[in-house]
Amino acid sequence: MTAPTPQAEFVVVANRLPVDKEVLPDGSVRWKRSPGGLVTALEPILRNHTGAWVGWSGVPDSDDNPDIEGLTVRAVPLSSTEIAEYYEGFSNATLWPLYHDVIAKPEYHREWWNTYVAINERFAKATAETAGRGALVWVQDYQLQLVPKMLRELRPDLKIGFFLHIPFPPVELFMQLPWRAEIVDGLLGADLIGFHLPDGAENFLYLANRLGGHDASRRSVGVRSRFGSVEVDGRVAKVGAFPISIASGEIDAASKSQEIRKRAREIRKELGSPTTILLGVDRLDYTKGIDVRLKAVSELLAENRLDPHETVMVQLATPSRERVESYVAMRSEIEQLVGHINGTFAEVGQPVVQYLNRPIPRDELLAFFVAADVMLVTPLRDGMNLVAKEYVACRSDLGGALVLSEFTGAAAELKQAYQANPYDMEGVKAAIEAAVKQPEADGRARMRALRRQVLTHDVEKWAKSFLDTLRDTDGR
Ligand code: ADP
Ligand code: G6P
Repeated sequence: MTAPTPQAEFVVVANRLPVDKEVLPDGSVRWKRSPGGLVTALEPILRNHTGAWVGWSGVPDSDDNPDIEGLTVRAVPLSSTEIAEYYEGFSNATLWPLYHDVIAKPEYHREWWNTYVAINERFAKATAETAGRGALVWVQDYQLQLVPKMLRELRPDLKIGFFLHIPFPPVELFMQLPWRAEIVDGLLGADLIGFHLPDGAENFLYLANRLGGHDASRRSVGVRSRFGSVEVDGRVAKVGAFPISIASGEIDAASKSQEIRKRAREIRKELGSPTTILLGVDRLDYTKGIDVRLKAVSELLAENRLDPHETVMVQLATPSRERVESYVAMRSEIEQLVGHINGTFAEVGQPVVQYLNRPIPRDELLAFFVAADVMLVTPLRDGMNLVAKEYVACRSDLGGALVLSEFTGAAAELKQAYQANPYDMEGVKAAIEAAVKQPEADGRARMRALRRQVLTHDVEKWAKSFLDTLRDTDGR
């Protein structure tokens, strides 16, 4: 076990540790990769930099530190009540829907907020105990928006960066939040505040000017925001857009391996050797528009624009936030849609939609990307969407086609995808049909352009660009 040390020069602070603890029925412990894009992006960074990671292990009341080579791990324990109020409650039933265009209705509860404040304090304290003098601390995501200010009060010697992995909402929506000024002030404690897209940075700059600027005793202090920075209480916090990415080179190389190519061929065979494999890969989340793509495919089949004998859709959906109400409701809606499509269009032994509600091992996932003719990425709102980039990185054969929602951060970079507005069902259907029927030369040209973007903008470049900017901040 790696003992916590106050010496770390680089500290990542995220709600989750890179690995999730699982206690097996016989009481033994297994650590597995944590779900979601944040860990996908940061794990390779911490593999290439020495440092510490402060986070929660995914189970109640555990301060076990997993052993990860080269990494100092500091587990922050959460009780069951704290998980319910801070994680499932304020983070995922208040902030998550509010920041994702209120696709579900955000719930505002004062007890949840109080627990969110208390847990952010716990993370700030654990970080203060882990970071060495003058260290670079990188706080991640919506669960920890108060940490920058709290940490600055505990440790003014640190350089503090914050990155938001989800969209920052439009001003009118953010103004719903009863604790909007506290959140803005929490973020302003950082030296650098990063968003995926310039729109998010602009929304935040406007709000900082309107709501920000309170000291520890809640007295109002001067705030002035300019292009790219906010002056608060005589100090300057920089604000910018840093679109995240994946370890594209590694994924590209892995996808070219004999084993993965072979597995991709086997997958096609196991699916009955269809002409077209459509693929969806997501956390089971209502923001991902899994229902949108299922409805679109169902209508295309009904209108004979897709042939049920030649088409198989695979939906890999890893379980997520299973005790939050809107997730429970969405899961049954999706399972009903899958049942409806198979009930209407499938033959015995030949389902049209194959749906797996479990996490898929990494290499198997890459084989699915290599096998898929059309990748369906249809979120109603998504900060970036790394799955879209992973698919592109896997297609060194220049095969395949990407259908991509306009409302993902990735759409700003992946212009040659078949883009569609996920609220426009006819538009989504047209994009899927065009992708399925694309002329080969057109498909190759599109994929070549997509790959140029993804392979030249990898996650190492993203991290370097953020951390170089953070290092250059001097509070003025
Ligand atoms: P989010 O962060 O909202 O989950 P992203 O698309 O940015 O969405 O990142 C999701 C990450 O989780 C990707 O690295 C993707 O490969 C992985 N992932 C998604 N679904 C599955 C699944 N069913 N099995 C295994 N990994 C998955
Ligand atoms: C998104 C969020 C991350 C989160 C991940 C998985 O990527 O931006 O902060 O870790 O989803 O969600 P979970 O609730 O399981 O941590």
